[in-house]
Amino acid sequence: MTSRLRMNKNRFYVTTPIYYVNDIPHIGHAYTTIAADILARYHRLRGDDVFFLTGTDEHGQKVEQAAKAKGLSPKEHANIMVENFKSLWKSLNISNDNFIRTTDSGHIKIVQEILQKLYDTGEIEKRSYAGWYCTPCERFWTEKDLVEGNCPDCGRPVEEIQEENYFFLMSNYKNDLIAYIKNNPNYILPESRKNEVLGFLRTQELGDLCISRPKSRLAWGIPLPFDENFVTYVWFDALVNYYSATKYLAPPPHPPLAKGGLMGGDWWPADHHLAGKDILTTHAVYWSTMLMALGWELPINIFAHGWWTVDGKKMSKSLGNVVDPNEMVKNYGADAFRYFLLREVPFGLDGNFSKDALVNRVNTDLANDLGNLLSRFLTMAEKFFNGAIEKRNAASGDYVRECINAAYSIHHEPQNWSQLRFNHILDSIWDIIRAANNHIAQTEPWKLAKSNEEYLKDVMFELWNALRLSAVSLYPFMPDTAEKMWKQLGLKSLTVEAGDYNIFTWQWKPGYEIKISKGEQLFPRIEVKKMTADTTPPAPLLVSGDTEGANLISIEDFAKVELKIGKVLQAERVPKSNKLIKLQVDTGEMRQVVAGIGHVYAPEDLTGKKIAVATNLKPAKLMGVESQGMLLAATDSDGVLSILMPEKDVKEGAKIK
Ligand code: MSP
Repeated sequence: MTSRLRMNKNRFYVTTPIYYVNDIPHIGHAYTTIAADILARYHRLRGDDVFFLTGTDEHGQKVEQAAKAKGLSPKEHANIMVENFKSLWKSLNISNDNFIRTTDSGHIKIVQEILQKLYDTGEIEKRSYAGWYCTPCERFWTEKDLVEGNCPDCGRPVEEIQEENYFFLMSNYKNDLIAYIKNNPNYILPESRKNEVLGFLRTQELGDLCISRPKSRLAWGIPLPFDENFVTYVWFDALVNYYSATKYLAPPPHPPLAKGGLMGGDWWPADHHLAGKDILTTHAVYWSTMLMALGWELPINIFAHGWWTVDGKKMSKSLGNVVDPNEMVKNYGADAFRYFLLREVPFGLDGNFSKDALVNRVNTDLANDLGNLLSRFLTMAEKFFNGAIEKRNAASGDYVRECINAAYSIHHEPQNWSQLRFNHILDSIWDIIRAANNHIAQTEPWKLAKSNEEYLKDVMFELWNALRLSAVSLYPFMPDTAEKMWKQLGLKSLTVEAGDYNIFTWQWKPGYEIKISKGEQLFPRIEVKKMTADTTPPAPLLVSGDTEGANLISIEDFAKVELKIGKVLQAERVPKSNKLIKLQVDTGEMRQVVAGIGHVYAPEDLTGKKIAVATNLKPAKLMGVESQGMLLAATDSDGVLSILMPEKDVKEGAKIK
């Protein structure tokens, strides 16, 4: 990212949200933490000094209540629950450098210093306040925020509360924040989320932030240093973790806590705060304005990723469909799960998780493309040359060019990494793997073994090189797999050898003899369970000519319907309707489409998405709102509704035929 130069450009600091200890880890927690791990591993590989931080958010009403229900003190409860996260990170091979708990004394001290500093400089003020309080969300709302008298976030009843509280004067920073976001285009990513934040800041009034809770109502929090009757709001405490950790948990060098004062940490600001889209406002607005009020640098980037649904449905305890990452690791292995999450969906968009999709990825991408390539190569190397690979100089031809281009895109187009385009990077790695598979098919090494041994040596070295480049590029995503490949390719230590910068180029060669050592298969195919008697068989295929009774139309009839790909630029609910959403769609021309999908999709989930639209329907009015087309969606017999979206990123306006 070029928006700002660091004093020391080899420092890389990445964070995950700190997770509430009252929940057990699920796919959403795993997702962000794996993404942060990939960034951390990549930067370590490139020789940067890395600080990768994750941790737990342990104060607040929910934790207090959960502990009480179990007859434990909040800290005892947190001590038990925190282990769920720590052990999951181990089994997912997460390489965090440290783990922050908001109950650490080092953190508490810094939160209090910051509160005091803001209070002393007039950024915090005491006010009498009346508002509607949602206990589960731990948030105040104004009368006009409420939806049918309930919390606009969770829909549960709210309580009217009047009390004195302390407020952070956040509204003073509205214009500065808008200017900052505009001047730093990569501050909030992806772009669609940045636009949402800007839209919100421009159109809504930004109030001041209530940052205290009276101790009489909530005891489990960090006491305000200037008023012992209050504790601080859990989000104020939580967000500060990103900074406080740099003072007592970061790898050295960091200034000693006693002498360092508040600023001057070597690790601040962070390069990336990763968080889910639901907590973007707290990061992009609360945290940014807190830092502005402190006069400190803002992080380089806040990235809001999308949410996972499960088999097309929202993940929830009541539906019993919460994906347990431990089970995924046990059944498929950490690397396959890591790969799937980052490959299946562009980081930033919502995705759908299903075991079928995961198994499909393992079988096609990992077992077939990657695993078979390695094992075929190793078998040939043993057979033709007793495992020895001669280092050759010949490096030309389409195949080599393809590999070099892909490697360049992975490692030398900085925006791929700085903008977290993980699936794009994986695409490029698969370009190398596919090119190598094609190279085998085209050169037919088993024939060369009989006719042209010199060329065979070139081919084997070129294949080895593609596998070597794939392994080093895959390392951040699938560290175990990459290390296994490295060893089988006759190399010593991936992480040590990566100290040589050239390792990311086609030219790199080890300074020792290469002797491959065939090991276990990387990814055995997963057998998909045979259909059992109680599963419904699919409808029989329609055989050509078998047209009786089928409701068939001619191709000419079909051609009358104009179907196009459209990009949703804006989405909002039609007032007073549960189901209708009004979309502004770019299908090569702008059109408004009203769709009955609001019971399943939220407007914010649709913005930026590509959809299929019937564009030559006569305009119709739905609840008085004109619709100039129809969005295509499927509903199955269980009532699961899914919008049809193109599998690749095709341009808006593309015709569907
Ligand atoms: N404690 C706060 C964060 C404070 S950060 C200073 C918090 N904790 S949480 O335990 O609720 O963490 C939730 C994280 O998991 C969020 O980033 C959220 O977006 C993510 N997810 C929760 N459900 C998710 C999915 N279904 N899919 C993807 N991520 C989801 O919020």
